[in-house]
Amino acid sequence: MSGRRRLNYNSALMIDAGQLADAGSPEELLVRRLDLKVLPRHVAIIMDGNGRWAEARGLPRVHGHRAGVEAVRDTVETSARLEFEALTLYAFSVENWKRPKYEVWALMNLLKEYLRRELETLIENNIHFSPLGRWRELDGSVVAALERAQDATRDCDGMQLNIALNYSGRCEIVDACRQIVSDWASGKGTDIDEETLGRYLYTAGQVDPDLLIRTSGEARISNFLLWQCAYAEFDFIDTLWPDFRRRHLFEAILDYQSRDRRFGGVETDPVAGQPTERVSEAD
Ligand code: FPP
Repeated sequence: MSGRRRLNYNSALMIDAGQLADAGSPEELLVRRLDLKVLPRHVAIIMDGNGRWAEARGLPRVHGHRAGVEAVRDTVETSARLEFEALTLYAFSVENWKRPKYEVWALMNLLKEYLRRELETLIENNIHFSPLGRWRELDGSVVAALERAQDATRDCDGMQLNIALNYSGRCEIVDACRQIVSDWASGKGTDIDEETLGRYLYTAGQVDPDLLIRTSGEARISNFLLWQCAYAEFDFIDTLWPDFRRRHLFEAILDYQSRDRRFGGVETDPVAGQPTERVSEAD
């Protein structure tokens, strides 16, 4: 992330709370409880539950994915306003090819539509977009849309928005190792340590996620950011992804701020706050 703004973990951010929630709304009550000085720098989200959301309404699964795009919009906007350094969304795994062809096609079209509709907003909000994964293996029209969005946001130096596509954490580590070996073969090899390996990952130069959220009540990591989440705080919430809105994000951050992060040591990291009572799960 060279040349890109880096926030000091404890810096007082100039966040406009009025932009995050309407006055008097339940969201505003949550925002007031947030400690804006110790926000996560990088939030990663496994967006799960679209199919179940649709099935509960007697609709085809793709309606759940379509409804999920609204949750993506709200989450990206809120995350940018919270001035996260990075937001990573898991949109399509290498395992997702096992889904029916029509569902894969629909997901790719939703992605293209999202990029077409939101690109101007991303630029206006100074958001730098990158796909993560073996995304160059996707259909040519998807690759073109991703490259266009990458190029168009190249000079944006605000939040980094990563969308993981044709992604697998194990493949990412394999790809990194292959590149390291190839660099060694061409005489560019250096000592291999954790820092070196990190530089070969898709997320090179970005901070590791502090907080990983998974929706829909499933409590597993599903091959997502395996290396980078070594010290992430995990939050598994029952809400299905299409219902996820900023209040859920605020609640996840409040929960995060109640954690005692020690990174294997005994000193407590400055993430500290009051345990949050979740109101949204009862909605
Ligand atoms: C998991 O729910 C969700 C996905 C595999 C796709 C996520 C995609 C979107 C939210 C829409 C497009 C994305 C962007 C970035 C514009 P699931 O289908 O596995 O749900 P289930 O477990 O209930 O079946």
